[in-house]
Amino acid sequence: MFDFLKDRLTLGIFPTPIERMNFGEKLGINLFVKRDDLDEFLGSGNKVRKLEYLLYEAKSLSCDTVLSAGGMQSNHCRATAYFAKRLEMEVELFLFGNSEVQGNLLIDRLLGARIHPITHEEYDDIEKIMEKRAATLENAGHKVYVIPPGGSNATGLLGYASMVNELRDWEKRNLKFDYIVCATGTAGTISGLEIGKQMYGEKFKVLGINVTKKKSKEFKEKISTMVKDFNLKFGTNFEMQLPEVVDGYVGQDYAVASKEDFEIIKEVALSDHIILDPVYTAKAFKGMKDLVKKGMIPNGSNVLFVHTGGTFGIFAFAEQLKAHL
Ligand SMILES: Cc1ncc(COP(=O)(O)O)c(C=O)c1O
Repeated sequence: MFDFLKDRLTLGIFPTPIERMNFGEKLGINLFVKRDDLDEFLGSGNKVRKLEYLLYEAKSLSCDTVLSAGGMQSNHCRATAYFAKRLEMEVELFLFGNSEVQGNLLIDRLLGARIHPITHEEYDDIEKIMEKRAATLENAGHKVYVIPPGGSNATGLLGYASMVNELRDWEKRNLKFDYIVCATGTAGTISGLEIGKQMYGEKFKVLGINVTKKKSKEFKEKISTMVKDFNLKFGTNFEMQLPEVVDGYVGQDYAVASKEDFEIIKEVALSDHIILDPVYTAKAFKGMKDLVKKGMIPNGSNVLFVHTGGTFGIFAFAEQLKAHL
């Protein structure tokens, strides 16, 4: 029988700290941050929790090669490259966008990951592209493990389900959260949190701030499919309760940051000495701030903001960030 707290690799340092944020006073809420940006140095961020399960599966299946995909500055791909290499597996990444070698891409390259540059249009067909490459490698005698973008599938959901277990220790110290807020890209983080909430009978509300151009309703189908796959794979019976994905904070596009995003990065760095990233966490923080202003998160609430990482990504925005110092 699969034991979800044991049947995984230990890749990160968990539990990650929970710290009170000074910024909460400005907003009129009790604001805390879950420092998942501190879970590992080169692996840093929300992908570590997912990869503890995904790479455990890859190793259990005796795979020697891992394939995954994302943008050129993908945090997920950087973490995958790092851990797969540490586990003595080869890594191939299918990446779209600006191929300037810096930030996450610089780390991928230093670690010796094989990069396949692809176009945005090809990315829409990424499953087929990775399947084809996997078949070629398997024909050449390799055993291949394919991780979908963002590590978001049934196995990956276990990562954030397990984070809920960490919150229970805080409850014993009388800290109970009303809201958990995080960035939403491929929805593995919020879906995992929702499953963890049901597993442990928690009451908090999960709010995912959409940092993509997809509309929140498009996430519903994906989340339902992932939860259905999860139930099938692990013999569970979780309901299709959908976490809330909030639109309106992506700005011009995914991975394009605005003046407001840079300003919030600066504001949080000065008030709390925490560095947010321009692609995910700054937009999520901006969204959370606005939801408080609009009263969707009531004054006085206990709010946990999940810092999902992305720190290496700031270097790809250095020129733009400099203008806000
Ligand atoms: C730093 C960071 N935060 C948040 C997310 C979003 O998480 P998810 O894809 O699980 O929605 C990602 C990846 O997509 C990320 O790299």
